[in-house]
Amino acid sequence: MDIHIAVVPVAGLGTRLLPATKSQPKEMLPVGRKPVVQYVVEELTRVGIQRVLFITGPAKTSIENYFDLNGELIQLLRETGKEDLLAEFEFERAPVQSFYTRQRQLRGLGHAVACAQSFVGDQPFAVALGDSIIGVNAQSDVVRRLTQCFIDKNAAAVVAFEEVPRNEVRRYGIAQPKSDGEIFEIADVVEKPSAEDAPSNLAIAARYVFAPSIFDALARTKPGKDGEIQLTDAIRLLIQEGGKVYGVRLRDAEPRFDIGNFDSYFRAFVEFALADAKHGPALRRHLERLLNDSHS
Ligand code: UTP
Repeated sequence: MDIHIAVVPVAGLGTRLLPATKSQPKEMLPVGRKPVVQYVVEELTRVGIQRVLFITGPAKTSIENYFDLNGELIQLLRETGKEDLLAEFEFERAPVQSFYTRQRQLRGLGHAVACAQSFVGDQPFAVALGDSIIGVNAQSDVVRRLTQCFIDKNAAAVVAFEEVPRNEVRRYGIAQPKSDGEIFEIADVVEKPSAEDAPSNLAIAARYVFAPSIFDALARTKPGKDGEIQLTDAIRLLIQEGGKVYGVRLRDAEPRFDIGNFDSYFRAFVEFALADAKHGPALRRHLERLLNDSHS
């Protein structure tokens, strides 16, 4: 059994990135040369996902346009002798089909995933948050590892985790693992706990694989304190009702870049720009000069 469908929620308002996100989706912000969501789709395509369902909203049509063919632009580049730039559009021809549906009310990530139910039907599927890149230039096969674990353990859900500093646990869903190791069963998962209450520092890292039973759990999940239906709460329900839920740790070489706040957005941009084969070395020299000057 392989997993062919990924759901990519991109409907959120991105208020933590205002004013940058006032009239453009945060998922379209560039990190190095490409918008965030292109890295997400490239990661998914590389692990064999064939159909991507974007959960979108009214301000997100630029995402749909981005993954469409732009015949006019291609024609113009040909006519003006800029054929070399055509290579930049290869992602338009990737063997993955894009679909779009709207989350008509912004009622949280869990609600966004629930919008995929009629598309997904009764098969397992992946979820990849559209505002998070895993690994520099999306060099990660974590979704394949989640899928393998899902199959091996006959799981109800498998979730990617990363270790975060204790003072950041209040931003994430946090696991209570049953054991150490790269793959572990989860006893519980808590949305945005305080540092004192957090059962560990293992934070949910934007990638999941679910059995279709998650839809039933989501339908029974009550809105949290902020009025939103949390995906973490639905996973918790799966565990409480006897479902096997596992965690898979991200490896050192695949940090998660969360493009949801300026701190991690700035870091991601600099890291990707430094890794750029053409412009990275000059940027590195520039940054070294800047940092040396600020120390002298
Ligand atoms: P966030 O939790 O960062 O929420 O979403 P947000 O609303 O986009 O951002 P802030 O808090 O206002 O700054 C994580 C991912 O889930 C999607 C977002 O688009 C993002 O890719 N999402 C979130 C939805 O699709 N629908 C929602 O109701 C909430």
